[in-house]
Amino acid sequence: MCGIVGYVGRAEAPRALLQGLRRLEYRGYDSAGIATLNGAGIAVRKSVGRIADLERLVAEKPIHGHTGICHTRWATHGAVTQENAHPHFDQSGRLAIVHNGVIENYLDLRAALEEEGHVFRSQTDTEVLAHLVGREFDRQPAHTKGALVEALRTALGQVIGTYGIAMIHQDVPGVLIGARRGSPLVLGIGKGENLLASDAAAMVSHTRDVVYLKDYELAALDADGFQITTLQGDGAGYEISQVEYTEKDVSKGDYPHYMLKEIFEQSGTVRDAMRGRLVLDEATAKLGGLEMSNAELRDVERVVITGCGTALHAGMVGEYMIETLAHIPVECEFASELRYRNLPLPKDTLVFAISQSGETADTLAALRESQRKGHRTLGICNNVGSTIARESDGGVYMHAGPEIGVAATKSFTSQLVVQALIALLLGRLTHLSHSEGLNIIRELDKLPDKVAKALELNDEIARIARKYAQAKVMLFMGRQFNYPIALEGALKVKETSYIAASAHPSAELKHGVIALIDEATPSVFIAPRDAVFEKNLSNIEEVKARKGPVIAIGTEGDDHLGHVADDVILVPEAPDFLTPILTVLPLQLLAYHIAVELGRDVDKPRNLAKSVTVE
Ligand code: AGP
Ligand code: GLU
Repeated sequence: MCGIVGYVGRAEAPRALLQGLRRLEYRGYDSAGIATLNGAGIAVRKSVGRIADLERLVAEKPIHGHTGICHTRWATHGAVTQENAHPHFDQSGRLAIVHNGVIENYLDLRAALEEEGHVFRSQTDTEVLAHLVGREFDRQPAHTKGALVEALRTALGQVIGTYGIAMIHQDVPGVLIGARRGSPLVLGIGKGENLLASDAAAMVSHTRDVVYLKDYELAALDADGFQITTLQGDGAGYEISQVEYTEKDVSKGDYPHYMLKEIFEQSGTVRDAMRGRLVLDEATAKLGGLEMSNAELRDVERVVITGCGTALHAGMVGEYMIETLAHIPVECEFASELRYRNLPLPKDTLVFAISQSGETADTLAALRESQRKGHRTLGICNNVGSTIARESDGGVYMHAGPEIGVAATKSFTSQLVVQALIALLLGRLTHLSHSEGLNIIRELDKLPDKVAKALELNDEIARIARKYAQAKVMLFMGRQFNYPIALEGALKVKETSYIAASAHPSAELKHGVIALIDEATPSVFIAPRDAVFEKNLSNIEEVKARKGPVIAIGTEGDDHLGHVADDVILVPEAPDFLTPILTVLPLQLLAYHIAVELGRDVDKPRNLAKSVTVE
């Protein structure tokens, strides 16, 4: 969590820093702070709350300088207070640091520093880091850029934990220092200016040339250049990448919220996820990034899919898709559980790690654990150059463009498309016929238009949302391919509206959950015309018999649901395994409109952060 930005150049640093920080607000929003080298020393402003509060403070009490750092916090150590807001200072007050991550041995380090007379002003783990580096720097014979890097290197050698750091020191003006281990850090190469940030989105107004720093790398930047070294002190090679998206892609445009903008982008993002990947001649999918030969793919005995939150729900749909189309046994497991499980798996197991951000700590740990056990891993990521994308043995990018709303929407449907492609590819290498493959391709090809059509239901869904927005509890039910969609619908409602929502396979209702049904508890049934439609219909009847209001998501042309449900939302038809890509859309819109109706902070729900880089 946390977003950090650092700037060194010729422009006014506060402007560039705050503009970048706004783009990172999705990463955390407990408090925010900024510090600049202003010629006389370090100027600092901090405020509890949103970046807008910090901006107001800086407007009232301006700070200046051409080098600076800033931070938006998602607290891990220490309450959400002004003192705990970053940047943090060393004992001398001449060094300021912003940090994303967790210093696990901070209590021991802090005790040792206190013995030496250091006085701490916050409860954070980060302040310990500031004191450590400051102490090492003050021990250096000369106060140069090299000495500052050396001090950081020595300090990091004593630290156990994760970090993405940006740091300035008043004795070394015009210099910005960074380091990473476990938390992302990107270096932006501008003209007469250079930047550091947790995510390239923070710097696209300045440059699209970036270097994704690797773990255990340190970077020293000034206005005209940069050096990257390793924690061991060696020079590090690097690759300059081009950020694919532009400033327009990271702005809200005419939409009131990023979440709505991203929901409406899905016709395009679903298309982008399959662009160039469908091979008509061979009736299959082409996924070069997998870096596996057909023979290796044919040998896959088992697939394990892992991820967190929405990405896991996508994986659960993937489980059904791969089992149905490719007949390979699949297990889908929470990354946070998989990392500590000792799953007995055959040698030819393929592990998929699904992650929009590519930085989720639990997913990354599950990936690394799988690699340790000798399994081949594939990353399904959106964020290009992210840690999971880089560390997995192969992978498939979603190409959904930046997703900024904390509630994942477009990344989910892209994850489904990518897994449908993988299922098609694996199926065609084993038992799917050419004509079956071709049918699947035709159906995939029709999806973007169907997505656009489903999104035309927006006004109708807004009306239904207003009707049910005051519910205290909501239930979501689905079967087979659409059980994970029930889970996803409930998660969207919980995180954006704070309504207690739970999801269940429709038939599980009668094993306990049905006790919750009353006139004030709406049930959402995802019941497209698929192999289990009639079964779902009976489950809806069970709820209606107990006077529970029902909202049903069905298939266009359906004339059954209207007789049993109170509100019906019909999406275009599709083969069973593709229905989730359409049925999830009304659920995203429903959650969005309920949240708006309740006056929630849709893009930045309480207590959450988009990218969860702590365990
Ligand atoms: C989804 O709306 C959530 N905010 C969250 O569950 C998210 O999907 C999860 O944290 C995983 O993130 P990732 O895809 O970036 O790994
Ligand atoms: N551990 C630091 C703090 O609590 C940074 C938190 C984070 O990166 O999530 O302030």
